[in-house]
Formats: sequence, structure tokens, C-alpha cells
Amino acid sequence: MSVARPYNFSAGPAILPTSVFEETASAVRQLNVPGDDSLEAKLSILEISHRSKTFDAIHNEAISLVHDVLGVPADYEVLLLQGGASLQFAMVPMNLAVPGKSGAYVDTGAWSAKAIKESKGLGETVVVGSSKASGYDHIPSPDGWADYSDASYLHVTSNNTIYGTEFAELPQTGDVPLIVDLSSNIGSRPMNFERVALGYAGAQKNLGPSGVTLVFARKDLLARQAPGYVPTILRYGTHVEKNSLFNTPNTFGILVLRNVLRWVRQRGGVEAVGAVNAAKAGKLYAALDASSLYVPHAKDGSRSTMNVTWTLAGEGEGDKTKAFLTAAEKAGLSGLKGHRSVGGVRASIYNAFPEDGVDALVEFMREFERTQG
Ligand SMILES: Cc1ncc(COP(=O)(O)O)c(C=O)c1O
Repeated sequence: MSVARPYNFSAGPAILPTSVFEETASAVRQLNVPGDDSLEAKLSILEISHRSKTFDAIHNEAISLVHDVLGVPADYEVLLLQGGASLQFAMVPMNLAVPGKSGAYVDTGAWSAKAIKESKGLGETVVVGSSKASGYDHIPSPDGWADYSDASYLHVTSNNTIYGTEFAELPQTGDVPLIVDLSSNIGSRPMNFERVALGYAGAQKNLGPSGVTLVFARKDLLARQAPGYVPTILRYGTHVEKNSLFNTPNTFGILVLRNVLRWVRQRGGVEAVGAVNAAKAGKLYAALDASSLYVPHAKDGSRSTMNVTWTLAGEGEGDKTKAFLTAAEKAGLSGLKGHRSVGGVRASIYNAFPEDGVDALVEFMREFERTQG
């Protein structure tokens, strides 16, 4: 029996493909892997050993799909860790800061700021570009960034989940390793990962459930030696050596991530998914631009295809926003409340978010403006 479900605009954990929900439910009951006649394959994904052949196959397939579907170059290391993107804010400077050099950062929002804070606690840190002064409404152009040619690395956030801004393309940083927090737009379109020395993403938007963090990196970067104070579990080298099995991994999350990447491949890969994402975001921005009630937060050229943010114009804006969100909930549109630091409305329309849900939102917005704007 299928149950009508609301459209889920949550910023994360977020909507996943319906087929993945079904496959996951089935794997929780019993894995039943075709061609695997081991006893583990007759058990639930929640109870099998991370050292079993059955899990090993799931894990290896997930890693292959990270290369094949997401386009991570074949010679990069792929790690599936825990601790979220937030732990990477600390692991990056702990492992990759070169003595005597600064970590360079571009500050495009609250998540960048958190990465900067971790780096500052560990060593010399410079912010070479920022859009903070204008409420993080755009991505500052690389032409205006301060010189970072002597930095240990340059860190950027490719998509700013809270503000709804996105790098149209990843910057080119020459000999300085580029580190990218890809949490909220990985897999949303083709990206040139040859430019990225280390990328990381919490899975809970485009890749799977919370509790798994994808990290991929060029091998030469991982050869950098972390200082002696860095605990074993926080060293990239540990996880490379143990193939992400140093401690018990999130076996369930890795299965779901594998299933999500299979789904992306089946949809035609990141090119096809990217075209759909552009169409979905295009409809929403067109509706915002055509309205006198809704004010988009992100400036043209920096608009995110994953998180679309806006406020409501005019007097009594706070009450109108409340009325909008209450009516949206009643209409089956869930998770639209903007982050508290921006207010207003945020529609997160990740890969698995259906186009008809965007149509339903646009229709709702027009009707709300006509009747209550
Ligand atoms: C861009 C970005 N970076 C980092 C984070 C933090 O991720 P986690 O909660 O996995 O640590 C988030 C969470 O939404 C995010 O959107």
C-alpha cells in the first residue's frame, strides 16, 4: 500500500529516492544479495560484521561508485568516515597544515566560518575572501581574493546550504591544494574534481543518511605527516591504511550511500541529474523573479541549485512569513522554514526531490501572493 507523503524540502537529513527507501527497508529485513550464498547474506544489514565478505562487497561497490558516478579520479583515495563534515573542519588543519604556513579560507557562510574557527584553534589561518558584510548573499570573485600562494591549502565551501549560494565552478588554485566542503552539492552536477586536492561531504543531502562522511583526496596530499599530538583516529593515514575499517564503520549508512549512487547511475549519471536540477531550480528562481512579494536572498551568478532562499517583502514581513509557512505545511509542503540566521523561506531541492514538488511549490507561492500578498 502506498501512503501519500508530503513534499520534503528539508535541508538535511533530506529526501532520498523512493526506490532507495524501499531497497533499504528490504535490506533491514534481510539482505538477500544475488550470488552471495554466505549466511550473512541471509541476515539484516544491521547485524552483519563489517569484516564479512558480504559487507566488504557493499563497501567496495560504494567506493567504486564514488569514482565512476561522482567522477572522483581513479587514483584518489576514497574514505567513508564518521563525525560529519564538522569533524573534517578539524581533521583538515590537523593533517594538512604545513609548519610555518597558514591555512587559507574563503568565508561564504556559517559552515565556512565553522571550518575557519577550527583552523584558528589549531594554527595560523587567513581569510582571503568573504561575503559576510553583505549577509553572505554571493560568492566573492576569485579575482578579489587576497594572495594565498604560500598557504598550506585553500578551503572553500562549494554550496552554502543556509544562504543558498553556490560556486558556479570550483576555483583553480594552481599549486596550492584546494580543499572543498562539498556537503550540500556533491553529485548535483558534473564537477571538475581534478582541481580538488581533498573533498569532503556529510552524506545526508545527496548521498544517503547522516552518519557517513565521504572524503576523497589526492594521495600526495595524504602523505603529509600530522603532528604527534593528533590522535590515531583523526589521522587520514590511519583510515587509508585500514580502508576506512579502523573502527566499526556506519555499515547501514554505507549500504544506503551505495544504493543512492546506483540510483544516480541509473538516472543517467551526474550529467542527467544535473540537467534536471537546473530545470527545477530554474522554475523556482523564475517564480521568485516574477514576484513582488518574494525577495531572493542570493545574487545572480551565485544562486544555488540545491537550496533556494528568499524572504517576504513589505510590512509585517514576519507575520506574512509565518502565514506562508503555516499554509505551506497545510498544503503538504514540509521543511520550508529558512535557517534562523537568514529567516524567510528555504526550499532544499536535492537530487531526489521530484520536479512535480517544485511545480506544487510554485503554484502554492502564486496562490499565496494572489490571496495574501
Ligand atoms: C555545507 C555544509 N557543511 C558542513 C555541514 C555540517 O555537516 P555535519 O552535520 O555532517 O557535520 C553542513 C550541514 O548541513 C553543511 O550544509
